Amino acid sequence: MSPFWLPFTANRAFKASPRLFAGAEGMHYITPDGRRILDTIAGLWCVNAGHAQRPIVEAIQAQAARLDFVSSFQMSHAGGFELAGRLTAIAPAGIEHVFFTNSGSESVDTALKIARGYHRARGHAERLKLIGRAKSYHGVGLGGLSVAGIPRHKLPFGPLLADVDHLALPYDPKVSAFSRGQSDPPVDYAQELAALIALHDPSTIAAVIVEPITGSGGVYPPPKGYLERLRQLCTQHGILLIFDEVITGFGRVGAAFASERLGVTPDIITCAKGMTNGAVPMGGVLVSGDVYDAYMDGPEGQIELPHGYTYSAHPLACAAGLATLDVYRDQGIFEQAAAIEGFWEEAMHSLKDARHVVDIRNIGVLAAVELAPREGTAGARGAAVNKATFDRDMLVRNAGDILLFSPPLIISRGEIEHIVDTVRAVLADID
Ligand SMILES: Cc1ncc(COP(=O)(O)O)c(C=O)c1O
Repeated sequence: MSPFWLPFTANRAFKASPRLFAGAEGMHYITPDGRRILDTIAGLWCVNAGHAQRPIVEAIQAQAARLDFVSSFQMSHAGGFELAGRLTAIAPAGIEHVFFTNSGSESVDTALKIARGYHRARGHAERLKLIGRAKSYHGVGLGGLSVAGIPRHKLPFGPLLADVDHLALPYDPKVSAFSRGQSDPPVDYAQELAALIALHDPSTIAAVIVEPITGSGGVYPPPKGYLERLRQLCTQHGILLIFDEVITGFGRVGAAFASERLGVTPDIITCAKGMTNGAVPMGGVLVSGDVYDAYMDGPEGQIELPHGYTYSAHPLACAAGLATLDVYRDQGIFEQAAAIEGFWEEAMHSLKDARHVVDIRNIGVLAAVELAPREGTAGARGAAVNKATFDRDMLVRNAGDILLFSPPLIISRGEIEHIVDTVRAVLADID
């Protein structure tokens, strides 16, 4: 058995039958024996501009030769300042500062700490509670796991943070199955937050954290009016609202951030993945001027936020991030996503009558095709689709019996049709 312990992988099964890639280009991975595999998940929701973008590759190479590493603890380099400026320029109005991390998980844990520290700095140290939501994924740090809503990720590692509560998923398949984009909610789901606020006493709550669109838990767009109401309740009660945009940032929904697309601005945005087009690990916590300013009141010369990573604002990541933003702008990647969304929606929903399909959800260039589970073996059918599509040179991601699609945003209409035809054929074939 190899010494490599793979993450989120059945290691023994994988090592008996490894799935390896040797190269990548545009919409495809390339296997060691030269097969070109259509990538329907953008690596892992990251490679929004497609693989091996030359300007990004060259920027990383040049940066490695120029300045390989400098920490940002009491020193830094121009790239960090430049990238922070470029990010705040495309973020919603009011988001004014960026704290750099190396991943989505680090971004989430950093955001939760910033939220608690914000209240303490303002004299409200008793505001500690964090409210997450069912089905949400916020990475694997102990903070992110605590607010996340996927039980099997949490159960082996408890006890997690104590002062946490969760909202329910604002979705009822009996009413909303096969709805397109944001559905009309049958009830005011956000009323549940009002109830939790009353239950816990608002003066004990630091933050509410949600993915504006639930991603890896199954692509659930927010019902109409839901995020607006969360925003209003948080503002009313002095609670910070955090949007985890690790998946939804950087063009995935046809705008720089889902916050912009959905018209709701949180106090804090976490991001990663598409920030560097997946080419170098990097994450960021984007905060409002109000959040940053709360930290800047103490004595000058004192470290305001005792937090950070050796590799925060790593020069290679900053170079990749800057080149990625150039690619997004110069190649009109966000606009491409917006332009293909209607075709994508139509194509994905054409699978409604395919065998085993019980629900389809979509927004931006994201979609979930949910299958009925096999009797007694939940997840087996999704795994079978994963294998059968790979045999047909297509990389498809499944979360149990939910097929998740999030391809590079450069995808063509022909490639979308190919995905749909392949999935339909595979579903007809498998039990
Ligand atoms: C919404 C969300 N938050 C956080 C993370 C964690 O990111 P990472 O794997 O880079 O730590 C992910 C990863 O998929 C995510 O989808």
